[in-house]
Amino acid sequence: NDELFKNVISHSKEYGFVFPSSEIYDGLSAVYDYGQLGAELKNNIKTYWWKAMVQMHENIVGIDSAIFMHPKIWKASGHVDGFSDPMIDNKDSKKRYRADQLLEDKIAKYEKDGKIQKAEDLQLKMDEYLKVENLAGLKELIIEHEIACPVSGTRNWTDVRQFNLMFSTQMGAMADEADVVYLRPETAQGIFVNFLNVQKSGRMKIPFGIAQIGKAFRNEVIARQFIMRMREFEQMEMQFFVRPGTEMEWYNYWKEARLKWHKALGTDPEKYRYHDHTKLAHYANAAVDIEFEFPFGFKEVEGIHSRTDFDLSQHQEYSRKKMQYFDNDLNEEGKPYGNYIPYVIETSIGLDRMFLLTMINAYEEQDLSEGDKQDSRSVLKFHPALAPIKAAVLPLTKKDGLPEKAREIMDRLKLDFNMQYDEKDSIGKRYRRQDAIGTPFCITVDHQSLEDNTVTIRHRDSMEQERVAIDQLEKIIGDLVSW
Ligand code: GAP
Repeated sequence: NDELFKNVISHSKEYGFVFPSSEIYDGLSAVYDYGQLGAELKNNIKTYWWKAMVQMHENIVGIDSAIFMHPKIWKASGHVDGFSDPMIDNKDSKKRYRADQLLEDKIAKYEKDGKIQKAEDLQLKMDEYLKVENLAGLKELIIEHEIACPVSGTRNWTDVRQFNLMFSTQMGAMADEADVVYLRPETAQGIFVNFLNVQKSGRMKIPFGIAQIGKAFRNEVIARQFIMRMREFEQMEMQFFVRPGTEMEWYNYWKEARLKWHKALGTDPEKYRYHDHTKLAHYANAAVDIEFEFPFGFKEVEGIHSRTDFDLSQHQEYSRKKMQYFDNDLNEEGKPYGNYIPYVIETSIGLDRMFLLTMINAYEEQDLSEGDKQDSRSVLKFHPALAPIKAAVLPLTKKDGLPEKAREIMDRLKLDFNMQYDEKDSIGKRYRRQDAIGTPFCITVDHQSLEDNTVTIRHRDSMEQERVAIDQLEKIIGDLVSW
């Protein structure tokens, strides 16, 4: 499994999916750049999400709010006071760790060694201390369980402190306190503060949703596992505004709908599971994670949270602007007209995590040896709709008018699909290059093509070929790459 993960990371770099940021300056910790194919894959994931959420739901609309927001927003949302991780430094190595992460690693070690009772006891204590923010207690646990600094091996720890995860910077020319602004740590607040703008300008009626895709920033204390935990990342979030009292019904609806979205990509359903939260954030009355089995274990990809009226109420209090919705329908049901602050169900998925999931799920090393003939290939078995390149056009040779014929096909198909043209090296090598970047179809132009206007289509997964008419190509590819 470690091997698989390492291969995916190096494959991502070799073929232009993900590069470490600022690489020629030795990189910047937990920041990554998406390359030429990564940008395409990311866009295709966004489109799949946007279509499923916005296009397919008549009562959901999408917005694009700014990363900078009024600093009071983060006071109201609870992020200034509460968005922090318990951090501990090692005095000898001068390395910084998350206290809860050190304890979780120890719990995992106890479990691996079969010390189940010890693991459970430690988990229970840790949860309790985290809940009441008993920082001294967390330090005691670290010492009591003889957790050594993973780098220096010594146990010379500082006290545990809360470390706020928001990045801040200054706005305007003056660098005084009042000008501090934060880089948003979630896109959700941009939706909450625009709730009435969208509701009124779009004449939206409850229940309705607002969706958004955008960057978020968190100064993670530990950043590891490639693009799993980044300091600059992207979220795809949707807030669904409902009548108070109906929130559990909608929570269950979205819990199911979101897992269906994941499974529709053809992923092995066994690799997904729900993780219901027993410890709830201050704003939530129910929460569940959708977890995926990564090579390093089951990890959260998406969260569905019932956030009550916490956020809108807080913004009403801090902004002194009414955040209420006037519900006409209540009257039709024989109940009095109602003004209320809606309840919110949120679905929040990390785009980069979804990207990693997609890469891991698609990646395969295949042994194709037959008899004494050694052969193998790396292939990315993306769902065709997510594949960065939909088809490659390959003239069998570089002469006899084949490149010209292939160009004609290329120029026509590129109007509708993201295509590649390749005439370099043997046809076998070119097929392998397309397999490695996950292109579902290779269109080969040969001498017969000049005579009867047909080409072969080679399918990535089965490696089978079929002969088809050139004027059928748009339809064939279109059918296979659409949802
Ligand atoms: N508005 C709710 C919210 O932000 P969250 O559980 O903190 O909830 C939602 O984040 C999703 O964002 C996570 O499920 C994860 O996929 C992604 N995410 C969070 N922190 C991340 C990070 N540092 N790097 C990459 N993705 C992250």
